[in-house]
Amino acid sequence: MTQSAKLIYGDKEYQLPIIEGTEGEKALDISKLRQESGLITLDPGFANTGSCTSAITFMDGEKGILRYRGIPVEQLAEHSTFKETSYLLVNGRLPTQKELTRFSILLNDHSLVHEDMRAFFENYPRSSHPMGILSSMANALRSFYPELDDLEEEINMTVTRLLSKIRTMAAMSYKISRGHRVVYPRPDLAYCANFLNMMFHSPVRPYEIDPDAVKALNVFWILHADHEQNCSTTAVRVVGSARVNLYAAISAGIAALWGPLHGGANQAVIEMLTHIVENKNMNRIIERAKDKNDPFRLMGFGHRVYKTFDPRMKIMKKMCDTLLGKLKISDPLLDVAKELEEIALNDNYFIEHNLYPNVDFYTGIVLRAIGIPTNMFTVMFAIGRLPGWIAQWRESIDDPNWKLCRPRQIYTGPQETRYVPIEER
Ligand code: ACO
Repeated sequence: MTQSAKLIYGDKEYQLPIIEGTEGEKALDISKLRQESGLITLDPGFANTGSCTSAITFMDGEKGILRYRGIPVEQLAEHSTFKETSYLLVNGRLPTQKELTRFSILLNDHSLVHEDMRAFFENYPRSSHPMGILSSMANALRSFYPELDDLEEEINMTVTRLLSKIRTMAAMSYKISRGHRVVYPRPDLAYCANFLNMMFHSPVRPYEIDPDAVKALNVFWILHADHEQNCSTTAVRVVGSARVNLYAAISAGIAALWGPLHGGANQAVIEMLTHIVENKNMNRIIERAKDKNDPFRLMGFGHRVYKTFDPRMKIMKKMCDTLLGKLKISDPLLDVAKELEEIALNDNYFIEHNLYPNVDFYTGIVLRAIGIPTNMFTVMFAIGRLPGWIAQWRESIDDPNWKLCRPRQIYTGPQETRYVPIEER
């Protein structure tokens, strides 16, 4: 029997159907609310608003659960690769060996970037943030790879191009920003190893591919591959709802991810930890985070959905110890991060506000150990999130209820008022 909720407003009653997901999550369906009652809902930050139904990612913020297409992220981090997980997200199931091989061939075939695009990279001011460059370059891809007539082919081609080329473009922009020669992708290297080689190989110092670094990068990207309707994914869906091409929608996602409250937090965490190491001021940082009159927040702490430990954080924390141990690196930031976490988790302010470390708290330390520069951290996140954005966009265009996103508002400005000519003001 379909459940419903009753809304009483004025002298009328309205039945609102209850929608239930496969994990028992319930929602009030208000799609006819305004039409029938004249009311809209008001939910700043959309914390109580479901914007779609989705079969891609399930997360339970209270229990710390995260699954892609039903598979726990812990299992994927342990057994899968980023390439396989990308296939899973975009296509809805794990690939067979034949499908995975074909996917690898396609990614390899599309890994080069049009040579004319190099001019863009070379002409950006050297101090530009790589996220700004990546967002513009993702959008620029449309001009270099015009739309194909066959819709299905166009979608498949665009998805493959994006997954492969964004990785090449990220490494290119790093090389060019340093004034180094661009390293081309190699057909004999798998997805993550290829990226590391493009980043760190140099004609005078060949890059030795370290399997521990490759494993760490696979895990990092798997953990970032999707996170249901977060800010950047919502941006991709909202922008995509205007029927813009996928490159432009992804470009919007990259722009949203850049913000320090979202993907930009991984860079902000390392800056904060470095500040603490240099100034030995951990207590002061904690006091500032708790001070209502200070806008400063403990970066890498808190989450809109997780009100317990972020399952991705636990894996990244373990990865810090494993990787740094294997690479024989001693990073003072790891000691400071662990101490800060310990203090915060025992502090009443953080306990009462349900503030736990999120994925970004430890990822920067792993990325540093691999050799990734701090200003590239959010780009690393963006490469990881790409399959999730693509899967979400694809799901939205396949949805028969795919509508232009156009929220309403409650207007609070002046009522109708007369235009006053300048001489009378
Ligand atoms: N440090 C100190 N106080 C915090 C923090 C923090 N990191 N996060 C939240 N709070 C406090 C707020 O000040 C607020 O306090 P109040 O109720 O006494 O006024 C309360 O907790 C709720 O804060 P909101 O911003 O309403 O909570 P929300 O769930 O919307 O915030 C967010 C989530 C934006 C991630 C927040 O926790 C934050 O800013 N964290 C730091 C940035 C960060 O790490 N972002 C990465 C998120 S993960 C990701 O995007 C990959």
